[in-house]
Amino acid sequence: MLKNSEVKYQKLKDQNKTLSQRDQKHLWHPLTQHKTSPEILGIERAKGTILYGEDGKEYIDGIASWYTCMYGHCNPYITDRVSMQMLTLDQVVFSGFTHEPAVRLSEALIEILPPDQQKIFFSDNGSTATEVGIKMALQYHHNRGNDRKVMLAFEEGFHGDTFGAMSVSGLSVYNGAFEDHFIKVVRIPVPTGENNSEVLEDLKKIISEENIAGFIYEPLVQGAAGMKMHDASGLNEILKICKANNIICVADEVMTGFGKTGRNFASEFLETQPDIICLSKALTAGLLPMAITSCSQKIYDAFYSDDLEKGFFHGHTYSANPLACTAALAGVELLVSKEIQENIIRVEKSHRDFGKRLTGHPKVKNLRQLGVIFALDLNVEMPRYGNLRDQLFKHFMDDGIYLRPLGNTIYILAPFTIKSSELEKIYKSIEGALDIF
Ligand SMILES: Cc1ncc(COP(=O)(O)O)c(C=O)c1O
Repeated sequence: MLKNSEVKYQKLKDQNKTLSQRDQKHLWHPLTQHKTSPEILGIERAKGTILYGEDGKEYIDGIASWYTCMYGHCNPYITDRVSMQMLTLDQVVFSGFTHEPAVRLSEALIEILPPDQQKIFFSDNGSTATEVGIKMALQYHHNRGNDRKVMLAFEEGFHGDTFGAMSVSGLSVYNGAFEDHFIKVVRIPVPTGENNSEVLEDLKKIISEENIAGFIYEPLVQGAAGMKMHDASGLNEILKICKANNIICVADEVMTGFGKTGRNFASEFLETQPDIICLSKALTAGLLPMAITSCSQKIYDAFYSDDLEKGFFHGHTYSANPLACTAALAGVELLVSKEIQENIIRVEKSHRDFGKRLTGHPKVKNLRQLGVIFALDLNVEMPRYGNLRDQLFKHFMDDGIYLRPLGNTIYILAPFTIKSSELEKIYKSIEGALDIF
């Protein structure tokens, strides 16, 4: 067996090159055009809100590493529990077996999920969570002997990068090569408050013309679109009409889930509850990849049958990995703790005060906030990807802040545990950007 001393030797051999340099030889990064992208930075370790770069600098993780590490990096409450679990049960097939971390997580989640949710189905990431949600909606109708083949979705929604998820995503920036293979999707604009009646009229017309199986939506905040926020009462009316037409409502809470909106789930702001909810990202507190698609009894019952074919034949090798379930369970315990709930209120208030500081600033438009999600658009034309956006990114990195602007949208979605002094550094850096760009 390989000894640790040999691994050290390997490291020594590579010491004359940085991680960034070695990376270029074999690695292909997500969402990256390697020919034009800026250099990729090596991160050596992370703790709390801080990422430690191999350049010797510290960076405040202002987006909780794509909104996953909401309780801070390497939080010992989570790492200790996972370390213990590692010694007991590392991995086992979840088809035909079960285990304590999965059972306990299902019980804990059902306690906090919106009232209709009854069943928990595991997969690996946000895209598979929505893929499963879409498949459940389509098969629900198929199993009832009434095929419906069209999905409804919002313009500019983002639901992931697998085929079903790409199909329903309105924000498929560079998906041209795949579009011929997409499932059929009809889109409606998000309700803004002003356009609600038109959106509802649109929806009724679509329902009369198309056989809609399900409606997938990011409730209240469209993350990848640039933290765009929409009107809760409008969304509620849409959901009511969908429910009345037995269109399965699939809430994609991959981004909004687990406290970020100020409530455990964004769906809690709405009267009408979804049939299916997709969860990932902060589900496992940033420690391990895992996803869940939960559903109501009504959905589950449409699959429960003596007929084998009516079962849901979807499964991933690592479904309900015991380590990931343990991380998720510890995450849920933290989420509902007094300490984290107080932190959420503190960060919310801090962002609100920062928003007031920026009110009326000529470079700021569309300032918006829900819970700990804060965003503004720079009053400067800027394509989603490209040189100007990269300069903005560099400005923050030079200040020791990791923010990842989406075009001209600057957003903050930091760990709940971020210190007030760290928040202030982020705010100052944003104010600096307003002076420069
Ligand atoms: C709302 C939403 N759904 C799905 C996804 C896809 O998740 P993943 O990147 O884990 O596949 C994302 C990712 O950003 C997301 O924001």
